[in-house]
Amino acid sequence: MKNCELSSAKPDYYAANRLADPRHTPLRRHSLPRPVPQMSTVREVFETMEYGPAPEQEDIALIWLKDHGHAMRPFVNGEFARFIDEVYFESINPRDGKRLARLVQCGETEVNAAVAAARAAFPSWSALSGHERARYLYAIARQIQKHSRLFAVLESLDNGKPIRESRDIDLPLVVRHFYHHAGWAQLRNETFIGYEPVGVCGQIIPWNFPLLMLAWKVAPALAAGNTVVLKPAEFTSLTALLFAELLQQISLPPGVVNIVTGNGQTGELIVRHRDVQKIAFTGSTEVGRIIRRETAGTGKKLSLELGGKSPFIVFEDADLDGAVEGVVDAIWFNQGQVCCAGSRLLLQESIAGKMIEKLRHRMESLRVGDPLDKGVDIGAIVAPVQLQRIQQLVEQGRAEGATCWQPSWAVPKEGFFFPPTLFTNVEPASVLAQIEIFGPVLVTMTFRTPGEAVELANNTIYGLAASIWTENLNLALDIAPKLKAGVIWINSTNLFDAASGFGGYRESGFGREGGSEGMYEYLVPSWERFQPDYEKQEVALRPYPSIYSTGNRHLEPLIDRSPKLYIGGKQTRSDSGYSFTVEDADGNHISETGLGNRKDVRNAVEAAAKAGSWSRATAHLRGQILYYLAENLSVRTTEFSNRLASLTGNSRDEAQREVQRAIERLFYYAAWADKYDGDVHQTPFRSVTLAMPEPWGVVGVACPAEQPLLALVSLIAPLIVLGNRVVTIPSWRFPLLATDLYQVLDTSDVPPGVINLVTGHPDELAMVLAQHDDVAALWYVGSAKVSGLLERESAGNLKATWVNHGKRRNWFDDHQAQGWEYLRHAVQIKNIWVPYGE
Ligand code: NAI
Repeated sequence: MKNCELSSAKPDYYAANRLADPRHTPLRRHSLPRPVPQMSTVREVFETMEYGPAPEQEDIALIWLKDHGHAMRPFVNGEFARFIDEVYFESINPRDGKRLARLVQCGETEVNAAVAAARAAFPSWSALSGHERARYLYAIARQIQKHSRLFAVLESLDNGKPIRESRDIDLPLVVRHFYHHAGWAQLRNETFIGYEPVGVCGQIIPWNFPLLMLAWKVAPALAAGNTVVLKPAEFTSLTALLFAELLQQISLPPGVVNIVTGNGQTGELIVRHRDVQKIAFTGSTEVGRIIRRETAGTGKKLSLELGGKSPFIVFEDADLDGAVEGVVDAIWFNQGQVCCAGSRLLLQESIAGKMIEKLRHRMESLRVGDPLDKGVDIGAIVAPVQLQRIQQLVEQGRAEGATCWQPSWAVPKEGFFFPPTLFTNVEPASVLAQIEIFGPVLVTMTFRTPGEAVELANNTIYGLAASIWTENLNLALDIAPKLKAGVIWINSTNLFDAASGFGGYRESGFGREGGSEGMYEYLVPSWERFQPDYEKQEVALRPYPSIYSTGNRHLEPLIDRSPKLYIGGKQTRSDSGYSFTVEDADGNHISETGLGNRKDVRNAVEAAAKAGSWSRATAHLRGQILYYLAENLSVRTTEFSNRLASLTGNSRDEAQREVQRAIERLFYYAAWADKYDGDVHQTPFRSVTLAMPEPWGVVGVACPAEQPLLALVSLIAPLIVLGNRVVTIPSWRFPLLATDLYQVLDTSDVPPGVINLVTGHPDELAMVLAQHDDVAALWYVGSAKVSGLLERESAGNLKATWVNHGKRRNWFDDHQAQGWEYLRHAVQIKNIWVPYGE
């Protein structure tokens, strides 16, 4: 055992050999072949478990680099394009810090050319038949397969990951991704009916799985019929350019895929480009937030796959030896530079000591060294900046009082290596427990009960993945839905497949990659294209009746007509102490209603948060309540129709039609309650992969001014039927239709807090919802300007937003006012991997 301070004291590529064998001296990188130690007996071999070197040939990759003069160009419109005034940066080998190649820092000229090429290619590419696109994707898969070793070696050279991983994990997954999506290309028209491709997709990827992240982005985009401008990470662009060469070989039409190299500035240019319709990003939460703000209001579709601090939970009945191997895969895979790395080990108290002892023993036998050695478990950290970040966070952890443990051997001095590291005595609120370290650093904490395990696991801003280890499947399946994470692995970890969606909850981002879930990220419903713009109309609330008001002409005396807010199942007076005037379509004063403020919204969110049992209620019960709501509304059809007609100035027939449609819509979603199923994905492991739709939790909804009853019902019914609780801002022009609903809600057994209604200025109140950290998602129908502002404000907790960008929806049209798109937006998918067999 040794203290963290002594790390990297002595170079040793073959860590497990360490100093046990005095004949063994640390090797230099290129000293091949290494002398095989003289073993005299089988027993000696067995006891020392000495490994010889098993170097992978790098010649072909080096020749490939040499052939390109160690200077790589961006891939634009089907060729490696030359631009004037090129600025270069270097890509280095993390194994030794030496230069591998120079790459072009693409600026405006290059990015503009790439986007223009993608734009020009879009019409013909998207017009190809599914079969034609499938053939291209299939050809890509085949071609990568043929050259997989070259890709793997180049990846390990550029990224520093062990060749065993790039060869046996990354490459097979890349190939699988293209095959799988060749299938989606073929089936798109019959599977995603009513959807069409988005257009030009800007894709920005990180350095931890360079080619795999490219595959995750490019394959679904092309399958759906989009064209692409992709930017690999500045540390690891080489396999993307090799991939581009392969696209030439299979004669992919020019412009369908363009690859621009460069740092974050190049990424920014893509994000800001007005001819890009979709941004797909994988990387840090910090940059994800910047991109959310940058794309706000532009109408660009966005998916973000961000950081994580995933829990690895071990219960006392788990197979501890299996769990130890799981930990190795969870945190030492790819040097821990994995967004879903199991970096927080949560141990049930009774087995914590035993598990840590086993883990330390196992850590002693891990081998850190040359990524191209087939016997190495942990390769090099991608770049000095990342190594320094890991070192700093480890130092900070020690300074905070946590206990650091590292194996007795040292890592190589040359290159960027960091030893596997284990922290105990970690406080749940400490930096170590909260910050994504993105290195081979594991922190452990203990729990006593399953409830405590869930609480500890969810004590993070992130929500990407979690592992549960127990022999009790009932317990595992009870815990899985309680964890706020997009992927759950039971008695397993870091399993990925093209057929299964991957992506996060909370500040780990939104959107999924893989499977049908991932395909939707590259499609838009056709009806969205045909929505007209709202006429410019400012929301103007009058806090006091105008002196010109013609009085309360149509309705009962004012004493009966001063509706309050509806929060937690109760009618509540507005905190502001103000009311606003409700007028009919002709400007006649009708009534006053409570002017909700920030505090009211916060109270409503609190009430909705408390109504969590609604999310756990059976789908049958939720459906029944919606039916009951419809029934009770139906009983009052005349009253609601009269109210609608007198307020909106619409004919009685039209008003009745709106009420009828609202009732129908409630029936429609009640019908879906127990039919919006998940999936069992066809992943190629001995595993059942359950894709479970889960409600977001608390969702904010801001309704448009028009069709005050129908729009409100159309927006909240899909949300609540799938288990969300809503804080709703009804139509500001005709809020009485919503306030009239209070009694219907009460008589329909809607539990308190499931539907909260706060009347007032929709844009101001929606802004409070956008900024609220306990609101998980926000739907808004209103102006383009406010849509943009809300998207920007939502960056705080990276809540998912669904806004209309000022487009007018026809609430009577079933294509655009109900259906799959609403249900899809009402949930997030959790993929739970349950292995089977002995
Ligand atoms: P990063 O988020 O800065 O980089 C990811 C990609 O985004 C790269 O291609 C980069 O060039 C690009 N980029 C950077 N700034 C941009 C901007 N303003 N607009 C558009 N594109 C931009 O991640 P970085 O700095 O490489 O790593 C820092 C930390 O981020 C890591 O320590 C880790 O915690 C986290 N990270 C998470 C990843 C994940 O898979 N979730 C992957 C990489 C990093």
